[in-house]
Amino acid sequence: MSEAPELAAAQERIAAAPDEHALRQLEREYAGVVGARLAAIPSLPASERRAAGQSANLLKQAIEAAALRRHEALQAAALMAERLLGGIFDPTLPAPKPRRGSLHPITRVTRELEDLFTSMGWHVLDGPEVELERYNFDALNIPRDHPARDTMDTFRCDAEGKLVMRTHTSPVQVRAMERLKPPFRAIVPGKVFRNETKDASHEHTFHQVEGLAIDRDLSVGHLIGAMKTLLRGIFGRDIEIRLRPGYFPFVEPGFELDARCPFCQSGCSVCKQSTWIELLPCGMVHPNVLRAGGIDPEAWTGFAFGLGLSRLVMLRYGIDDVRLLLSGDLRFLEQFA
Ligand code: PHE
Repeated sequence: MSEAPELAAAQERIAAAPDEHALRQLEREYAGVVGARLAAIPSLPASERRAAGQSANLLKQAIEAAALRRHEALQAAALMAERLLGGIFDPTLPAPKPRRGSLHPITRVTRELEDLFTSMGWHVLDGPEVELERYNFDALNIPRDHPARDTMDTFRCDAEGKLVMRTHTSPVQVRAMERLKPPFRAIVPGKVFRNETKDASHEHTFHQVEGLAIDRDLSVGHLIGAMKTLLRGIFGRDIEIRLRPGYFPFVEPGFELDARCPFCQSGCSVCKQSTWIELLPCGMVHPNVLRAGGIDPEAWTGFAFGLGLSRLVMLRYGIDDVRLLLSGDLRFLEQFA
């Protein structure tokens, strides 16, 4: 009997089964063959029965082993096909983009202003947000009974009122004078706090950039020059300005600086049809403030300004509600990506 070719042929057919269905058909076919062989054994001469039984069993085992191998191969192929075609993994697709954050508009404009001023030799300074009343008021020529304290809507941090949330960045003027030897120039970007009722143009927390220059014989002309440079940096071109008198206890004289509306020629909603926008308060540093900072007002002069950064950012990006700035709302923030 030629067992080997028969086995090899069976194994070959099973290994070539194109799918599970064809494989099961072959398994049934060979089970029939093996069954018929075993059934025929009793009718064989006794001398041949043992060999016939062994050969039938050999065929059965070989077929089972071949069928199992083929079954596993078909399964692996099916899994691979599903992965490749079923969208679970397509190595030719571009990788999904990671979600990228972006700089907050206040951070952006702050950095621009820092670049502008450091390029002109100014320092960038920082000061505490929880501030001593002494720096926030007294050293700025705002004594305890001064009405300016009432207009500042101050958050107090302790019962005695020695600690306050700073209501402006001006206290850092005095801290700067104590730390730096004149002449010096510095800006101080930072958060300030006022106990205001919130609406589209008022927030309890907002941003300012303080500016302070101390030198010999500084005049209003130097202040105007610095403000024009500031505006050119912000708006990318020369902008006409005007000064109106303004009162702040820590400057004398004090001014409100208006800029020609950068968005229109003849009036728009931003400038309320006036073609001027109120940009920042400023002035010459009061001698009492220089003294509080340990600087001799006979020898040194100074000018200071307080840029409303939140307002500037709103102007720059056309934001009509200040509350959006610190809302943390991603729908708002993602527009600055
Ligand atoms: N600190 C003042 C404010 O917040 C602004 C200011 C700064 C005015 C510097 C003059 C000079 O209202």
